Formats: sequence, C-alpha cells, structure tokens
Amino acid sequence: MKTFKHHMPTKVIFGRKTFLKLKDECESAKLDTSKIAVICGKSALHHGYADFVKKQFENVEIFDDVMSDPSVELAKELTEKVKDFNPSLIVAIGGGSAIDLAKVISGLLNNEGDVEEFIGVPECFKNPAVPLVAVPTTSGSGSEVTPYAVLTNKKEWKKAPLISSYLFPVIAIDDPELTVTMPSHVTANTGIDALTHCMEALVSKRATPISKLYSLEGIKLITKYLPRAFGNPRDIEAREKVMLGSMFGGMAITDAGAGLVHTLAHILGVMYDIPHGLANAMFLSAVLEFYGLSAKDELLSIGRAMEIESSNIYEIVEKIKEFLRFFGKPETLKPLGVSEDDISSFVSLAMAKKFLMTNLPRIPSEKDIRTILEKLLKNS
Ligand SMILES: [Fe+2]
Repeated sequence: MKTFKHHMPTKVIFGRKTFLKLKDECESAKLDTSKIAVICGKSALHHGYADFVKKQFENVEIFDDVMSDPSVELAKELTEKVKDFNPSLIVAIGGGSAIDLAKVISGLLNNEGDVEEFIGVPECFKNPAVPLVAVPTTSGSGSEVTPYAVLTNKKEWKKAPLISSYLFPVIAIDDPELTVTMPSHVTANTGIDALTHCMEALVSKRATPISKLYSLEGIKLITKYLPRAFGNPRDIEAREKVMLGSMFGGMAITDAGAGLVHTLAHILGVMYDIPHGLANAMFLSAVLEFYGLSAKDELLSIGRAMEIESSNIYEIVEKIKEFLRFFGKPETLKPLGVSEDDISSFVSLAMAKKFLMTNLPRIPSEKDIRTILEKLLKNS
C-alpha cells in the first residue's frame, strides 16, 4: 500500500439546529470572541443569520459584501475594510463564495503581501490566519472542511485557489436547517458540485484509503438524496444527507484534490459567467467517459455506490448522465453561450493548467480536450 497523509484539523459540529449553539461551540473551543467580523452575502443577512450572531456576542461587525465567484479585487477591498475592524474571530456564513472569501481575508490579515502573490502557491501563508468559523448555507463546496479558497481573476479568465493548511476553518457548523431556503436550481448546482468533488477525488491518483471512504459515501448520499432535496426543499432529512455528502466531498478533495472536470468548469465559469456547479455538471460525464478504462475500478465502485446494476463502465457513465439530466442542465454547451469559435481559446486556457493534471487517471492531450469540447457542443 502507498503511504498517505491525512490532515483535517477542523472541528465539525453537524446536525439540525447546531447554528444555535454557535456561542457555546466558540466558548468550548476557547476562541477569542471579543471582536467578531461576520462575512456573508445578502441572503444570510435577509434570513437573519448575521443578526443572530450580533445578538449572541458583544462586539460584532457585519460585512455583507460577498458576491458569487469572489474576485481578486473584492478580496482586496474587503480585506482593507475588515483590517480596520481588526477582528479576533471571523464567522463566515453563506455558500462556498462567502466561506472562500472569508478564508482569504483571514489569511491576508496576518500575512503581508498582495493576494496575487499567494494564489496557486502551495502552503502560501507563513503565519496562521485569524481563526475562522464556517457556517455553510448551501451543500456544495465543502469549503468548511478544506484548506482551499478559490478566487476569480476576470481579466485573465482565471479561477484559482489559495492553498494553505492555515485556511482550514477552526470550526465548521453544518446545520442543514440553514439550507432549506436554497432555491431548487441552487440546490441542484451546489449538490452536483459536491458530487463532482466526490467523483474527482475518487479517480485521482492521490486518492487515499481515507479519501475513498469519503468519496464513496458522499456519492451514495448525494445521488440518493439530492433528487429529494431538489423536489422538496423542506425535506430536512434529504437536506441533512446532502449536506453530509457535501462535507465528505470537501474532505475527499482535501486529501486527493479535484481534477479535469474542475479545471474545465473553472474556465467555463469565468468565460461565460456560469455557476460553478452547473459548469461541473456540463463536464462530469464527458470527462468520466474520457477516463474510461483508465479509471475502470473507480467507475465500477461509483456504479455500486449508485446501486447501478451493471458492470459495464460506459453504462455506468450513461446512468450518471441520466442522473445529471434530471436536474435540467442544458444538453449541450451552446445555450450557455459557447460556440465553435471559442474552442481554441478554451483549449489553450486548459493546457495552461496542465500542471494540475498530473494526478488524473488519464492525462489529456490538447486534442483530447478539443474532442471533449466539440462533443459537448453537439450533444451531452
Ligand atoms: Fe467545486
């Protein structure tokens, strides 16, 4: 067996109404709660989550400027604002965008330098970040248990992560009750992001015995319960299981990394303003089909996790395609604005990320990526 490492220092508090225990959990972790910066988007404000924190502690300031797919510029601006407040603790409430942005800010507050200097650099921070409590309100990114924070650079059509073990939140509060107000399309997109994490981590060459457990359990939970959560937003049992699957997805990519689906989805997302989960949905089955026999055992285990009665990997990929279709994603890339003329720039952006492809079960050539895109322009 290959040697492996597993490092996941975040304390997870999982379950219904756990958000209400925020204060107790901060106290039991002996966090300094004298000055709390809440970083969130408008929906956390609207649902009263930010105000709840304000009522629990004495000195709380709310920064509600989070936008989806946070940009480098927004990270810089918001860091300056939060710096003036000088918090002892940050509480991030929201989807992956809010948590990622809060992570970047928590790191920048204690480390000199421009945010660009840290992007894509392994273990980018020298000093520990300001402690962060992450409270997800979607079930997708798994960011509450990862050392990653993704930022977007619109000008250069790039989306890339900051990576540091100092970016693990100190506490993750996964309360599924906070996810019931998600609109159906957000439930679908974020859930498919989580499923993609589980599948990409499973086929990664960096997969470990621990990450595989997370991946397979995540695949089971998400494929079984996401359709229920999508159909009935208030189905709390389904919400709970999908949230658990999303957290497992985060733990799996922490050990094994994501893969080609994410590389292509980041490009699609930034070039055409497509939500991250939908962008993943567009590529997931095509990339798995491309891996084919190179990921035979993993595809078979995905089939078993999804209770698919087939040992033919291409039939399994077909079932995954069917599963994704259920949530109403477009059949081709065309309705998203992609045209044949864009393929060359898309391929060069992907090839510029070749360094991210060393852990894939099959490493694509330029021609392979072109073929995947051409096929997806014609059909799914
Ligand atoms: Fe993702």
